Amino acid sequence: MFSASSELDTDFTHLAPYVKALKQAQPDWPVTAYVRSSKPEAELKASLGADNIIVGDFSDYEKIKKISKEHDIVVNAGNSFTEEPVAAIIAGLKEKDSATKGKLIHISGAGNFIDFGTSGNFNTESKVWNDSKQEDIKAITKDMFNGKSDVPVLEAGSAIDTYIVCPSVVYGGASISSPTKGIGYTLLTSNAKPLGYVPYVGDGTAVLSTCHVLDLVDFLVKITKHAAEGPASGTAYSRYYMLETSRVQWKDLATELAKAMHARGLVQSSEPKAVPFEQAGEGEVKHLVAANMLIEGERAAALGFEAKQPSILVQIHEDLKVVPI
Ligand SMILES: NC(=O)c1ccc[n+]([C@@H]2O[C@H](COP(=O)([O-])OP(=O)(O)OC[C@H]3O[C@@H](n4cnc5c(N)ncnc54)[C@H](OP(=O)(O)O)[C@@H]3O)[C@@H](O)[C@H]2O)c1
Repeated sequence: MFSASSELDTDFTHLAPYVKALKQAQPDWPVTAYVRSSKPEAELKASLGADNIIVGDFSDYEKIKKISKEHDIVVNAGNSFTEEPVAAIIAGLKEKDSATKGKLIHISGAGNFIDFGTSGNFNTESKVWNDSKQEDIKAITKDMFNGKSDVPVLEAGSAIDTYIVCPSVVYGGASISSPTKGIGYTLLTSNAKPLGYVPYVGDGTAVLSTCHVLDLVDFLVKITKHAAEGPASGTAYSRYYMLETSRVQWKDLATELAKAMHARGLVQSSEPKAVPFEQAGEGEVKHLVAANMLIEGERAAALGFEAKQPSILVQIHEDLKVVPI
């Protein structure tokens, strides 16, 4: 069991409900939050529910390394697109003096697993990435959306105890006390806004995987308790967990997104627009809009993941009412 003297270090704001849920489940576990903020410490403690606050930037390698060395479990809930801050966390945990290995819980993202289709149609031939197949996890490369962080975490998995939690597009901000948009909604809304419409490609039957923040938080508490219970078993490739609340077709999502953005005066039409791939947005986002994201979280389910929350098609209207766009 996790001892009362153990501490956790976390860095996030979007996942503040995780700290609150963890403190509710394990009130005796001291939690430190590493955040970028100019707000007073007391205010940050109250809004995050953390016992300690450390203010800093992900680029401060030495500072993150030192803090990580001093904590038993470190959760990277802040950034998975680059090696910051996870490389510093790994370096710190590797230098721990204690007899037990340092433990890292890293939050990745299922953007890794899109099929890069450009038709916008569902593809029955597309690979379904399964978290219980170690060969699928071994196929993760640095070129994938979250590969620059996932690969070093997987490679560190024999020196330290690593766990990778991989939700798909996260929604549900309106159900938590400090709602924020998160990266998923930011990509979708900032793509549609300059276009003036919400795009979908082809017949819009391509599917997107989505994960409600409360389903994610529930699993994060489970995995944290699991990590605290003792040394990790198996290889790092057997400690990767894919989380999905439900899959939605792009046309259905675009239909609800168009209504929600139109209600706020952000796009001209309350209907989505079918466009060729090239007109579905700038840069990488058009790949997301046209592709299929197919994941299967068998291993996560075996550890207790349950999809309990409503679909993004329902939730999006409440979510997008309450955040700045
Ligand atoms: N949201 C999703 O759909 C989704 C899906 C799958 C995986 N994920 C992963 O989950 C993690 C969290 O995502 P999120 O949606 O919660 O993101 P978010 O809402 O953008 O939160 C990221 C947090 O990191 C902070 N931050 C950014 N750059 C920083 C820096 N250089 N130094 C210190 N703090 C910094 C931000 O602070 P500021 O507020 O000051 O910018 C913000 O509080 C990411 O790794 C993401 O890839 C997200």
